Amino acid sequence: MILSIESSCDDSSIAITKIKSKELVFHKKISQELSHSKYGGVVPELAARLHAKALPRILLECKAYFHELKAIAVTNEPGLSVSLVEGVSMAKTLSLSLNLPLIAINHLIGHMYSVFIQKEAIFPLGVMLVTGGHTQVFKINEDENIKILANTLDDSFGESFDKVAKMLNLSYPGGPIIENLAKEGSVIYNFSVPLSNSPKLSFSYSGLKNQVRICIENEKNLDENKANIAKSFQEVAIKHLMQKLNKIFKFNSFSHFALVGGASANISLRNSFEKLCQKYNILPLYAPMQFCSDNAAMIGRAAISKYEKQNFSLIHEISINPKIKNI
Ligand code: KG4
Ligand code: ZN
Repeated sequence: MILSIESSCDDSSIAITKIKSKELVFHKKISQELSHSKYGGVVPELAARLHAKALPRILLECKAYFHELKAIAVTNEPGLSVSLVEGVSMAKTLSLSLNLPLIAINHLIGHMYSVFIQKEAIFPLGVMLVTGGHTQVFKINEDENIKILANTLDDSFGESFDKVAKMLNLSYPGGPIIENLAKEGSVIYNFSVPLSNSPKLSFSYSGLKNQVRICIENEKNLDENKANIAKSFQEVAIKHLMQKLNKIFKFNSFSHFALVGGASANISLRNSFEKLCQKYNILPLYAPMQFCSDNAAMIGRAAISKYEKQNFSLIHEISINPKIKNI
């Protein structure tokens, strides 16, 4: 079994996964969302302190499995530096005290593996990653070689939901709040789709965010129109992703394509993605809802593939890498 730790942002999570069968035998996550919501976003110092409290609490619950462990895995990049340090320090200590090899996992690769939790992996695979920090499309081959097909130029998809929610005086994280609010609204504002006339395979959300900001500043009946703003914004945010993905599908062939990351829980996004996949005869893959947002189960599943290749990190070499923009 592999014990995996995730603490890259505001979720403290530990999982234990069987290496051969991929069975998830233990998984627990303590989310800090409530603690950060009053600040409208994640406060790094607070996140680190809460990880320092939560991770040992979860670890105590899975002590019974320690004698069956073969490796310790941990997210070391990208993320908030002070948050990553908490998980990596715990992983190093466990590796040293239990005399087990250490596996460093890239958080974005972890999200990709969220579609294979308790399953065999399928490669080659196309992936659209939509998180709070990244909007990226890539192709991953059998040897796990990655080719980036599209990337974000500024704000990410999830981040734009967080920022629109903040501008509407709503809570954090904005994604699920905007999605729910949009259900009660109609498209009455004509926000333009970013980069729709550009041949570039890039994503950009800061312009759309500004369109929403100006709309909010000029709206006299804001309270009555919050749902309409949420709906109008969400439609365009998704349309932008789908327009670029359509271009990618036109010029690349995929048999399977995964939609992953915290924002992949958005049902309207899933519906649009599914329709596009149908058009190109591609099989869409998703993570179970509970594993869309950050969790240690996906980190453990990613670690199995590194364990099989004996791809370990030395305790004095593993370091955090907060800022990495690509995989
Ligand atoms: O993957 P994740 O849990 O953490 C990062 O690695 O960033 O993604 C969190 C992001 C946040 O920006 C959150 O607002 C967004 O995913 N999100 C959503 C939804 N649920 C979470 N965005 C749109 N619709 C949702 N239903
Ligand atoms: Zn994430």
